[in-house]
Amino acid sequence: MRDAAPTTIYLKDYTPFGYLVDSVHLTFDLAPNATRVTSRIAFRPNPDALDRQFFLHGEQLKLIRATVDGVEITPDVTETGLTAVVPDAAFVWEAEVEIDPGNNTALEGLYISNGMYCTQCEAEGFRKITFYPDRPDVMSIFTVRINGALPVLLSNGNPTGKGDGWAEWNDPWPKPAYLFALVAGDLITHPGQFTTKSGREVELNLWVRPGDEGKCAFGMEALKKSMKWDEDVYGREYDLDVFNIVAVDDFNMGAMENKGLNIFNSSAVLASPETSTDMNFERIEAIIAHEYFHNWTGNRITCRDWFQLCLKEGLTVYRDAQFTSDMRSAPVKRIHDAIDLRARQFAEDNGPLSHPVRPESFQEINNFYTATVYEKGAEVIGMLKRLVGDEAYAQALELYFDRHDGQACTIEDWIKVFEDTTDRDLTQFKRWYSQSGTPRVSVTEDWTDGIYTLTLKQRTDPTPGQSDKLPQVIPVAVGLIGANGDETMPTTILEFTQEIQSFAFEYTVEGWRLQGCEGPERVSGANPPKPTASILRDFSAPVILEHDQSSAERAFLLAHDSDPFNRWQAGRSLAEDTLIKMILTDAAPETDYLDGILAVLRDSDLDPSYRALMLGLPSQSELAAMMHEQGVTPDPVAIWTAVETLRQVTAQHVQDLLPRLHSETSIEAAFSPDAEQAGQRALGGAALALTSRLDGGAKAAEDYQRADNMTLQLSALSCLLRAGKGEQELNAFYDRWQDDRLVMDKWFGLQVAMSAPAETADIVSHLTGHPDFNWKNPNRFRAVLGALATNHAGFHRADGAGYSLLADWLIKLDPVNPQTTARMCSAFQTWKRYDADRQALIRNQLTRIAETPDLSRDTTEMVTRILN
Ligand code: ARG
Ligand code: ZN
Repeated sequence: MRDAAPTTIYLKDYTPFGYLVDSVHLTFDLAPNATRVTSRIAFRPNPDALDRQFFLHGEQLKLIRATVDGVEITPDVTETGLTAVVPDAAFVWEAEVEIDPGNNTALEGLYISNGMYCTQCEAEGFRKITFYPDRPDVMSIFTVRINGALPVLLSNGNPTGKGDGWAEWNDPWPKPAYLFALVAGDLITHPGQFTTKSGREVELNLWVRPGDEGKCAFGMEALKKSMKWDEDVYGREYDLDVFNIVAVDDFNMGAMENKGLNIFNSSAVLASPETSTDMNFERIEAIIAHEYFHNWTGNRITCRDWFQLCLKEGLTVYRDAQFTSDMRSAPVKRIHDAIDLRARQFAEDNGPLSHPVRPESFQEINNFYTATVYEKGAEVIGMLKRLVGDEAYAQALELYFDRHDGQACTIEDWIKVFEDTTDRDLTQFKRWYSQSGTPRVSVTEDWTDGIYTLTLKQRTDPTPGQSDKLPQVIPVAVGLIGANGDETMPTTILEFTQEIQSFAFEYTVEGWRLQGCEGPERVSGANPPKPTASILRDFSAPVILEHDQSSAERAFLLAHDSDPFNRWQAGRSLAEDTLIKMILTDAAPETDYLDGILAVLRDSDLDPSYRALMLGLPSQSELAAMMHEQGVTPDPVAIWTAVETLRQVTAQHVQDLLPRLHSETSIEAAFSPDAEQAGQRALGGAALALTSRLDGGAKAAEDYQRADNMTLQLSALSCLLRAGKGEQELNAFYDRWQDDRLVMDKWFGLQVAMSAPAETADIVSHLTGHPDFNWKNPNRFRAVLGALATNHAGFHRADGAGYSLLADWLIKLDPVNPQTTARMCSAFQTWKRYDADRQALIRNQLTRIAETPDLSRDTTEMVTRILN
């Protein structure tokens, strides 16, 4: 039995720990299967605590000895920790434990990846390293000594000494144990340097395994840009002499913000033009920024308890999105984020795993590192900023850093700085943190006597544990457009707070304006034509907008909306409407969509990246969700067929433009992963995909041969695979890249992603038998099984082959790596959308997983929630 029986932890039960920690000294004697960890911890009673029970967390530790003030004691040790009798005054605790990093396949605590020692402590992994009050509100100064016969020995903070086989580190900033890190291995640095705004010289290192040196330059530049940006935009300066980043191949998540020693999944930091796509580059830049920004939002100010996770994650995601918008294109970033939110967070928020941005209970906190906590958490901050304005936001953040530096905080603290800055009552706004589910906003229009009125209605469906929902504060950004396509009212924020609320607009000498606002008087007697509303501009709130517009209106907005997000949205809505009609009635694609796309593609004033986005379609899973919402049971094969047909017809419709658009992939200048070139390649690649529908892959085969960067190579290969060709190229790709783990992940994933639905499961079975399918590596596991779960029609094959295959592998992975297993269970979260036969098949698989003996706490919680 690996885990203790599951217990549920509640936010309302929070109490402070009975002791404060003044200092922590750790000594590591590294050995693959018997690492000794000696801890010396100075405790003193916490005057703010009522409960003085001395309980230290500890799991899978072999206690060698323990002393209190030098006197040996025998604590009461259980599977989850120990209790001991201690003085009612300051005392020094010492313990020596033995751990086995070599057999730690869960990748939590101290483990070994390719001969390199590495840690992952967030959320509750430090308790697998030594006995400790492993909770984020216990903060202390850590001094670490590492003894080990490896060339590079790293921990948090500043180096204070090193010699042959040892190194010492001191972190002067009090931190919770989840930010502890240790790395030891045969590593090479790609060095860098940064001077902070007050003149502090910071040594930067990106540590990698020998062989990966050529993939560091981009990450290092991204780090410097992040450091500069946080100074310029948030006034935040770095606070240590060194900043280390380490790349590791075996990692459950993207990366981790350990103080002064960020640890990254190698897929989230290593990049080169030959091996990485433009999407990889953009993601890497964002993750490096994200982890760096945590130094202030997460580390200097941390969370009181894990229910407050969004305090650091929502804010840090918001900050990294701002960074990406500044480095690249703000509208493109916003559109990407909306696509992602709708695909992942809306699915979560409207199914059995729905939970508030600040959850109120959990069994396993690792299951709450979710799109809701991260991405919806970031959206909530975006709304707050829209409501209070940019200036007040900046002041509130200033106050937040000032008031809470060095503290472990709550969402209440966060909201309070906004209330104190603006004198606004944010009580209702706080519902965004406590209410789960995606609000639906429906719109009706009225046009009487020259007054244009929008009536908004909000409702949120019941979600697990929350049957009744209250109205939320929704900032709805609206613009009005006149008959000639000119904007007649610039973007105006409607503060929508009631269940039903009307907003009237009147015509003035300066165009339309919200009634009751300051400004010029209504022009009486004028007889303006009815305007067209552009609603929820810039995706101003994470809601589902229900606005029955005609295709003609959508086409009009697609042609004229000055808000780039809503212009894109108009095209997306046209695509959705036509696809759903095609699915339900076998109708042909609508000309409003086809002509609209054609016009956009012709408009060479538009950014290539923006035009590429316009060619995108909603995912098949989203289409299934929309049909389900409309009361129709989605048929995955029918959805797949409609998408294929629309692609084919679109290709024919825009055929004449394709050669010119495709030529965007031929860039004369040297390769750069910047937004401009990436946009050109995205448009060229989209054109290639359409071309391949017409020429059977001839152009793609040529492109594959000439490709000198991974973006083009992969897009050509995917076109070939989609066309049922490319066997030879696939083999050539394998021969060329078989020694590069990150590129091989792409090789595995692409075959699954591009497979025809009837074959997906068989291809997955085949690939899992490949000698390079190292299933204990999370990246490789996700490359194959994750791709199965996201190939909608393939996964939902009517005979259930996709379901049972995924379940087989989850059952196999669970004892090895519960975190990654539990996370991938969410592939089943949408099961109630589908027909009775598929539901029965999925239920069988979920039950089979649930009934597996010794199933981890992580996976148990997930399948139980999904089944209920
Ligand atoms: N704090 C990390 C980040 O957002 C993620 C760590 C996730 N860890 C986990 N066990 N779920 O960058
Ligand atoms: Zn984070």
